[in-house]
Amino acid sequence: MRTLITGATGFIGSILVDSLLARDQQKQNRANSIYCLVRRTSSLAWLEKLPVEFVHGDLFSDAALLPVLPEVSQVIHLAGVTKARTEAEYFRANGEATHHLLQLCARHASKLQRFVYVSSQAAAGPSADGHLITEEETPRPISIYGRSKLAGEAACQKFCRELPITIIRPPAVYGPREKDIYQYFKQVKMGVRLRLGRRERQASMIHAQDLVNGILLASEHPAAVGETYFITNPQPYDWHELGQALAAAMQKKTVSLTVPEFVAPVLAAFSELGAKITGKPALLNFDKIRELRQYYWVCSGEKAKQQLGFVPAISIQDGLRMTWQWYRENGWL
Ligand SMILES: NC(=O)c1ccc[n+]([C@@H]2O[C@H](COP(=O)([O-])OP(=O)(O)OC[C@H]3O[C@@H](n4cnc5c(N)ncnc54)[C@H](OP(=O)(O)O)[C@@H]3O)[C@@H](O)[C@H]2O)c1
Repeated sequence: MRTLITGATGFIGSILVDSLLARDQQKQNRANSIYCLVRRTSSLAWLEKLPVEFVHGDLFSDAALLPVLPEVSQVIHLAGVTKARTEAEYFRANGEATHHLLQLCARHASKLQRFVYVSSQAAAGPSADGHLITEEETPRPISIYGRSKLAGEAACQKFCRELPITIIRPPAVYGPREKDIYQYFKQVKMGVRLRLGRRERQASMIHAQDLVNGILLASEHPAAVGETYFITNPQPYDWHELGQALAAAMQKKTVSLTVPEFVAPVLAAFSELGAKITGKPALLNFDKIRELRQYYWVCSGEKAKQQLGFVPAISIQDGLRMTWQWYRENGWL
C-alpha cells in the first residue's frame, strides 16, 4: 500500500505519519510506503529522520505529483492554510488546490482506493442555539476560512462519482506540536485565563492522536466512501471548564480576566497591521475574531461512532496534561 500525504510537515500531518509508521511496524508490514509532499520552504523538523519518501513540490506541482500518483492507493490530503493574508490566498490553498489534486488523481491515480480530505468544522459553521451540529445539516460557514474549506468539500462532491472520497471535519485540534491553542497554555503558565466577554462559549475539541486514529479508521472503512464525518470528542467544553482543566493539569493558580467584546476588533486591527508589516498571516485577524465571537462551535461525533465505531480514547484532562508535558519537555513552555 502506498500512501501520499499532503501537509505531512504540519501539526496533524506529522502525527499522522508517525501513527502510520508505528502501525506498520506493529504489523511488521514493510510493503507499505509513505510519500510526503514537501515544499522547498517546508520545515522537515518532524519528518527528516523517518523512513518516508519526499515528493518535492506543492499542490500545484504536476511535475512532482505525476510520477507518484499512478502508484498510490491512498491519498490523505491535509495540506491547507488555517491563516492567510487575503481571501484569495485562503481559496487558492484550500479550495483550488484541493480541486487540482482531485483532478490529477482522477486522471492519473488508477490504483486509488481512498482519497481522504481533511476539511474543518469551520466549513459547517457554528451551531446557532447550542445543539450539536450533524453532517446532515446545511453548511453555514461564517468565516472566509470556513468558506474556503467548504470550497474544498465542494471539489470533493464534484469528483465523488469518479473517486472514492471521504471527508473529515475536525473541530479544534490540540496536542503536541500545536501552535495556536498553545498560546492559551502560555497564558495559563503566566497565571491568567483570558475570556472574551461574559457569556460562556462552548467548543468541541479533539486530541490530535484521536483525530489521526479517526482519519485512519475512516480511510479504510468501506462504509466511509462518499461520506462526511465530524471526528470529535462527544462532549463540548465551555471555555471556563477548559481553562480550569488546563490550570489543574499544569498545577497552576490562575485568575480569570474578561476581555470586553469590543476590544477584540481593535486587537485584530493591530494584529493585521503587524501582518502587513511582516508579510506573515496574523494569528488573530478579523476572520478569526468572527469565529471567536460565536457561542457554540459544537458538533456531533455520533455518525462516526455509529458507522465507523470511532470512539476517542483521550479524555480532555489527560489530553491537556499530556500536551502540557510535551510542551515542557520540548522547551516550548
Ligand atoms: N489544527 C486544527 O485545529 C484544525 C482543525 C480543523 C481542520 N484542520 C485542517 O487540518 C489540516 C492540517 O492542519 P494543521 O493544523 O496540521 O496545519 P499546519 O500545521 O499549518 O500544516 C499545514 C500543512 O499544509 C501544508 N501546505 C499548505 N499549503 C500548501 C501548498 N500549497 N502545497 C503543499 N503543502 C501546503 C504546509 O506545508 P509547509 O510546511 O510547507 O508550510 C503544512 O504541511 C488543514 O487542512 C486544516 O484546515 C485543522
